[in-house]
Amino acid sequence: MAKDVDILFDTWLTVPGDSRSKLYEAMRYAAIGGGKRLRPMLLVAASEVFNVDRDSAMRAGFAVECIHVYSLIHDDLPCMDDDDMRRGKPTVHKQFDEATAVLAGDCLLALAFEILGEEATHPDPFVRAELMAALAKASGPSGMGGGQMMDLEAENRQLDLPAVTRLQQLKTGALMGFCLEAACILGRIPPENRTHLRGYARDLGLAFQIADDLLDVEGDEEMAGKKLGKDEEAGKATFVSLLGLDRAKQQAKMLVDQAIDHLRDYGEEADMLREIARFSIERTH
Ligand code: IPE
Ligand code: IPE
Ligand code: MG
Ligand code: MG
Ligand code: MG
Repeated sequence: MAKDVDILFDTWLTVPGDSRSKLYEAMRYAAIGGGKRLRPMLLVAASEVFNVDRDSAMRAGFAVECIHVYSLIHDDLPCMDDDDMRRGKPTVHKQFDEATAVLAGDCLLALAFEILGEEATHPDPFVRAELMAALAKASGPSGMGGGQMMDLEAENRQLDLPAVTRLQQLKTGALMGFCLEAACILGRIPPENRTHLRGYARDLGLAFQIADDLLDVEGDEEMAGKKLGKDEEAGKATFVSLLGLDRAKQQAKMLVDQAIDHLRDYGEEADMLREIARFSIERTH
């Protein structure tokens, strides 16, 4: 799976022989190798539940990974988290420069929609339009982008648990929610039958973010491939700062059980989703 995503990036990002080459190099540098590819995995796993064509699922998974990588490039910029390491190597603005990092992020954002719009993603233009609208919503001010704003505003401000939950639902949960939603769109599942998978996505997104906050406190920098201890340094309210380590771990475990429980009506076709839920909190990176 990770290999399939790498291959797609490799084909889409052939470096041209003109003055845009640095931009393409930076996009390739950020996108190829290193990531867990959790979002494409989630999208493909959800698509298995509904027997969705694997190529369509991979293309939608690739689109959401484009958005994710763009969000990481910008998240690491000096004007945001100011980080030097990502996925075990120097961040894009360190390896290249800030202007190139901004453009590489912008272009990955655009690339996501270019891919979804192509006929190869799905023969029905209505399905493609629905995918694009859902990804736009999950990425923009009522999704990831809005969550990033709330996250910046959370520095040195005492947020309570409901506020942190809302922030994380937007920052991390929205893109994960898209993965489940996209599988439903591709499988033409009517909205009233999407409830279980939406519930799964909500719980998984929160569990995943608690694990990220726990890693920030207890993780190993070498394994995580990024600098840790950043949340406390920035005075950021997180699940860990609000609940303490033990209760945060209990909460993450409970959310994973709850996520898996949402799948109770499904058989072994949902096993990959169950596995992803378990992995989301057992990970070391
Ligand atoms: C890190 O995401 C940023 C968050 C949204 C918490 P991942 O932990 O999925 O990062 P990669 O893709 O594996 O590098
Ligand atoms: C970033 O969250 C989430 C994004 C939407 C990019 P963090 O700032 O906590 O992610 P890390 O810890 O740098 O990976
Ligand atoms: Mg951040
Ligand atoms: Mg960060
Ligand atoms: Mg973090």
